[in-house]
Amino acid sequence: MCGIVGYIGKADAPTVLLNGLRRLEYRGYDSAGIAVLDNGQMVISKSPGKVSALSERTRADWPAERFSRLTMGIAHTRWATHGPPTEINAHPHLDQSREIALVHNGIIENYRALRARLEGKGHHFYSETDTEVLVHLIGECDKGNLFQAVCDALHQVEGTFGIAVLSAREPEKIITARRGSPIVIGVGDGETIIASDAAAILAHTQRVIYLDDNDIAILTADSIEIRDLNNVPVTREIAELGYDETAAEKGGYGHFMLKEIYEQPDSLANAIRGRLDFNVGSSVLAGMGTSPRDLAELSRVVLIGCGTSLHASLVGEYAFEDLADLHAEVQQAAEFRYRNPILGSRDLVIAISQSGETADTLAAVREANQKGAFVMSLCNVVGSTIARETGRGVYLHAGPEISVASTKAFTCQVAVLLMMALKLGRGRRFSREEGIRFAREIEHLPALVAQVLLQNDRIAAIAETYAHNEHAFFIGRGPMYPVALEGALKLKEISYIHAEGYHAAELKHGPIALLVQGTPIIALACDVPGKDKMLGNIEECRARGARILGIVTEGDDATAACMDDFIEVPRCHPLVATIPAVVALQLFAYHVARIRGCEIDQPRNLAKSVTVE
Ligand code: AGP
Repeated sequence: MCGIVGYIGKADAPTVLLNGLRRLEYRGYDSAGIAVLDNGQMVISKSPGKVSALSERTRADWPAERFSRLTMGIAHTRWATHGPPTEINAHPHLDQSREIALVHNGIIENYRALRARLEGKGHHFYSETDTEVLVHLIGECDKGNLFQAVCDALHQVEGTFGIAVLSAREPEKIITARRGSPIVIGVGDGETIIASDAAAILAHTQRVIYLDDNDIAILTADSIEIRDLNNVPVTREIAELGYDETAAEKGGYGHFMLKEIYEQPDSLANAIRGRLDFNVGSSVLAGMGTSPRDLAELSRVVLIGCGTSLHASLVGEYAFEDLADLHAEVQQAAEFRYRNPILGSRDLVIAISQSGETADTLAAVREANQKGAFVMSLCNVVGSTIARETGRGVYLHAGPEISVASTKAFTCQVAVLLMMALKLGRGRRFSREEGIRFAREIEHLPALVAQVLLQNDRIAAIAETYAHNEHAFFIGRGPMYPVALEGALKLKEISYIHAEGYHAAELKHGPIALLVQGTPIIALACDVPGKDKMLGNIEECRARGARILGIVTEGDDATAACMDDFIEVPRCHPLVATIPAVVALQLFAYHVARIRGCEIDQPRNLAKSVTVE
């Protein structure tokens, strides 16, 4: 889950590449590097740490005129998989002749065997990476035709790759290829740019081509030739991005995460717009590609995802059971293809992924397709691999999500799942009136979330009380249980507090042993089924000296009185309440992390899109 950029075209390629890397930094930020050709010489600059460190070093080491004079190069920002984040292990890597440079996103699984074979032929390796082996293999295969050499090398590779290759021997082109890791090509005017995602291309063009697995392309400033690895020409359509650079700016907020939290009334409005039918009391989700007959014949819904998307799936599970009387289950994507999922044509499999590139979820999609299930996706990134591989599904329209900690994608995922459940429920148990009532509840979501955002200062003040703890527990019941899991994940990933989410009833089966005087308990005590039991669980924690922060329904003073601190969320349907409740927890986590001085948008050891298994 690195970010790669390649550029060939007009002047000042180093600046274009560094700007592109900045846009991709959320994909990995532990080291970075750039390679350019200068008067036929391969010139490399690499640095541990952020892209800013690389930019400083490059500007210090390279003569200023080099920046404006050069017209092509490749660059990389890394999330280490093989070898620690050092300068030596940073990309680009060079082949034995030091005339071919490569940047790579993915994992070469058989690199040890390839390395041993090449060492047997006298190759010398400097780094611990799998990537250096691939560029040496390309060099070994190069008989005067770089394109063919890359094809021959990739035929010997097991694993995933998104690559860009530059050679001093063929200075007028860049070669790029993919299998499992995303590659987008920007079709410019007298310039061509490639990147791991469109964020790095926005400044140059809105016209893009998404490569498919085993595609390889030869890029020049004025041409893009796409073939498969057997050198057979393939055609890929040009798509329009439809959003501009400002979407990728902070817009005056201190962090992308806070900006994206505040964008939720708009992103939810976008996710809902034109999708609720108040005449029929249902939803219109054309992309699902289901006929009324398909829907009627469905016997089960299987939801798959990872991390925050897995938590959204868990809310979806409650929604399909409750609203559509349909058996629903959640599968952890990483386990899916390693167990033996029993699937058939009457099973609706919904793959949930913000990025649409998560390797485990993609593998689960392929498994479900193979087993003949009715597979669709719920993605945010348009044109992403999972969206294209499922060929049907619903886009979130949440806009680009830059902060590694997912916020607006989660709330839009839940909103779309509620609309899907409404659609299935309308065909199964909902009357028109009930359907209209629930559709109105969904329609109010932007306003409900806006109400929670008004409490930002109050939540920031509450966060002061909790920011200095090293442990915290989030508890919930019913659809608030996945909200507790999500709240704990947000706090964990951006503040580094060891936070755990539990079903409230589970505490007394073990975890309650961890409670001591002052242990923070964040309790989802909104007005949902089982609230009375929830209040009992809260008293069990209080009896052990825990400090209770309650998320309570507006005006429920009796429940609020049971808490040490509380945040109110508007009164609404229990399933809908999951969204304003999670926004309160997003703000809480944000302020705790801010108070602790954490790197909120780029937490250590994380990356926005996990493209390796
Ligand atoms: C969430 O804040 C994390 N960034 C992570 O858990 C994320 O949800 C997970 O990697 C899944 O990503 P996806 O939705 O892009 O597939």
